[in-house]
Amino acid sequence: MKILVTGGTGYIGSHTVVELQQSGYEVVIADNLCNSNAGVLDGIARITGVRPAFEELDLTEGEKVRELFARHRDIGAVIHFAALKAVGESVQKPLEYYRNNLNSLMNVLASMRECGVKHLVFSSSCTVYGQADVLPVTEQTPRKPAESPYGNTKTMCEDILRDVAKVEQGMNLLALRYFNPIGAHPSACIGELPNGVPNNLIPYLTQTVAGIREQLSVFGDDYHTPDGSAIRDYIDVVDLARAHVVAIRRLMEGKNKANYEYFNIGTGNGLSVLELIRAFERATGEKVNYKIVGRRAGDIEQVWADTTLANRELGWKAEVPIEETLANAWKWQKHLME
Ligand code: NAD
Ligand code: UFG
Repeated sequence: MKILVTGGTGYIGSHTVVELQQSGYEVVIADNLCNSNAGVLDGIARITGVRPAFEELDLTEGEKVRELFARHRDIGAVIHFAALKAVGESVQKPLEYYRNNLNSLMNVLASMRECGVKHLVFSSSCTVYGQADVLPVTEQTPRKPAESPYGNTKTMCEDILRDVAKVEQGMNLLALRYFNPIGAHPSACIGELPNGVPNNLIPYLTQTVAGIREQLSVFGDDYHTPDGSAIRDYIDVVDLARAHVVAIRRLMEGKNKANYEYFNIGTGNGLSVLELIRAFERATGEKVNYKIVGRRAGDIEQVWADTTLANRELGWKAEVPIEETLANAWKWQKHLME
């Protein structure tokens, strides 16, 4: 069975391709390489022994997407990762974000319908919850208005899936709401490729320890949390990748309970920024040079997942201990500098 993985040379996509191939699925990747490079295919091949088929194309071009599906008539399911994802950039370039993220999804869905491809797994985000009133967040927690155009594309894409599922009864659509994906494959053959100065905590931290950045800024120690720093649910990228394999299997085996479903994918544990720094130091023996600065605009105070639904329905659970995840992130950073 062939799976189309859009955005498959990206961070989460590449780890998912590895898990899919190791589970016996054939993969074709479609990516325009706007935030990744074709060298990732070598990394995937080193781990799995199989180089996935690769189609370089922009998914906002509907005709190109149609031709892609025509070239691969045996696609049985799609995992749609392709999107622009920089929160700050989306505030500066809202049209680019809406155009890229919405059109890509709509083109993929239109071609799926034309070709009779039934199953799709979509990358959503816990950003749809905003600052929830009650923690941890369950799938029943109300979504809040998005803080950024990027966040809004996730809410809007979820709405598109819900509306399409209502009329396309033969289609099975499933959104995974990721919490904070971090880490890298333990082989250090693939990992996150941050472009320029990282915005996210872990790449900034590992680059600081590597001497590329002078000091990590901890954004705020005056939150209403035990140590004052903000809390997130950090999920290992390989655990996250495995969630896609079980989601695909659920759809293909017809075990879904509705033709649009959504699941929280996190560990169920919240960690503060300061706790994460300490865990990194324990895991690697390295010292993190950091200073406390003011809060970052737009950040929420705390969020972590209730993962009961994914545990029960998908039979999936996060397994990698945080120290191992952080050790792999460090190993990947060192590999990037070789
Ligand atoms: P990434 O940037 O590493 O991967 C996305 C890939 O999509 C890139 O390889 C990029 O080149 C490709 N792409 C973007 N627009 C495209 C287009 N129009 N046509 C073809 N290819 C295109 O990002 P990631 O961290 O792997 O994220 C994957 C998905 O998960 C995204 O939808 C993202 O919004 C979502 N997500 C990520 C996080 C996170 O913290 N990394 C959290 C929640 C949700
Ligand atoms: N942080 C710092 N210093 C830094 C970077 C981050 O203290 O240099 C803090 C942030 O303030 C936040 C935590 O570390 O409290 C995590 O920040 P990230 O930027 O790594 O992640 P976010 O929670 O802000 O957002 C990420 C993705 C979003 C996605 C969201 C939920 O960037 O796209 O996770 O999945 F929507």
